[in-house]
Amino acid sequence: EKGGFRSFMDKEIHDQPHAVADTLLGRTDAQGRLVLDEVRIDESVLRSVDKIVVIACGTAAYAGQVAKYAIEHWCRVPVEVELAHEFRYRDPVVNERTLVVAVSQSGETMDTLMAVRHAREQGAKVLAIVNTHGSTIPREADAVLYTHAGPEIAVASTKAFLAQITAAYLLGLYLAQLRGNMFADEVTAILDELRAMPDKIQQVLDRAGRVREIARWMADTQSVLFLGRHVGFPVAMEGALKLKELAYIHAEGFAAGELKHGPIALIEPGQPVFVIVPSPRGRDSLHSKVVSNIQEIRARGARTLVIAEDGDEAVRPFADEVFYVPKSPTLLAPLLAVVPLQVFACELATAKGLDVDQPRNLAKSVTVE
Ligand code: BG6
Repeated sequence: EKGGFRSFMDKEIHDQPHAVADTLLGRTDAQGRLVLDEVRIDESVLRSVDKIVVIACGTAAYAGQVAKYAIEHWCRVPVEVELAHEFRYRDPVVNERTLVVAVSQSGETMDTLMAVRHAREQGAKVLAIVNTHGSTIPREADAVLYTHAGPEIAVASTKAFLAQITAAYLLGLYLAQLRGNMFADEVTAILDELRAMPDKIQQVLDRAGRVREIARWMADTQSVLFLGRHVGFPVAMEGALKLKELAYIHAEGFAAGELKHGPIALIEPGQPVFVIVPSPRGRDSLHSKVVSNIQEIRARGARTLVIAEDGDEAVRPFADEVFYVPKSPTLLAPLLAVVPLQVFACELATAKGLDVDQPRNLAKSVTVE
């Protein structure tokens, strides 16, 4: 049932074009308008929401952090992302005008479930973004938007992450449409861009030979850093998490802008650093700022492993390796940029002879607090 792959993780990484395509499927009406029938929360309630709080753990929380950028941009509603176990114990400000979005692959994570209960007790509406049908969190939530990633067997999450971002984006577009922040044709244009992503993810997979090769060479590495900015920041943290989980290597993800405020002290000759570079076509100067970061760490001897958009030549002089991904709108780029990082962690762990499907000490769903 591994479909010819060495591991479930390898298979699930390769399933990702389908996970995204299937999560998008059947969510528009005959006119091409986005309809999310599952969001059974009164439209009047959704219109009056003045804050969205995403609660989740692990990879699902990073999906929430990516979605924050898109939902705030599209809906002009503040979005907080909080680890479910922290949320419940800090007396959060939550009320009838708060929409709580609980993100969970399994739908059984106890920390997330307890946070859902707490939010509902405070009068908030809870919408669950969950992959597993019939699980507990959707039963206790007011509504559920299922991700259609298919069963995820490997303990560390990959395809569910991409599906969670996709579903959260659908929710963001739906709210923007409902609340009048976006015209129907703007929503349709972004939906079309989303529908183009599965092919682009496939292209990233097709090009992954080099990242595999590098991962095998790096099997003895002690520590890897990941830098990203804007939506690339949660991608950096997810890249680091994959490496910790699968390869038991010390790894940290940082916001690239934070580099000069601390992490640059960690850079010594030979230190591998992945850098996720935003599109040079982006509106502001983020691209050049991140390119400067690469230059700064390279000057201190870092080994720079750069993920950049096709055609971005500016990164080349400072990159030991460039992994190019197809062009996409900035907000959708995480669906591509994370893939080489997943492949890297999976391949490196496999080269170390580790069981990538069942890493030590981890469980697929943690049903205790
Ligand atoms: C951890 C898993 O226990 O729970 C992670 O090892 C996962 O892979 C996290 O991201 C959250 O799980 P879920 O099912 O709530 O998405």
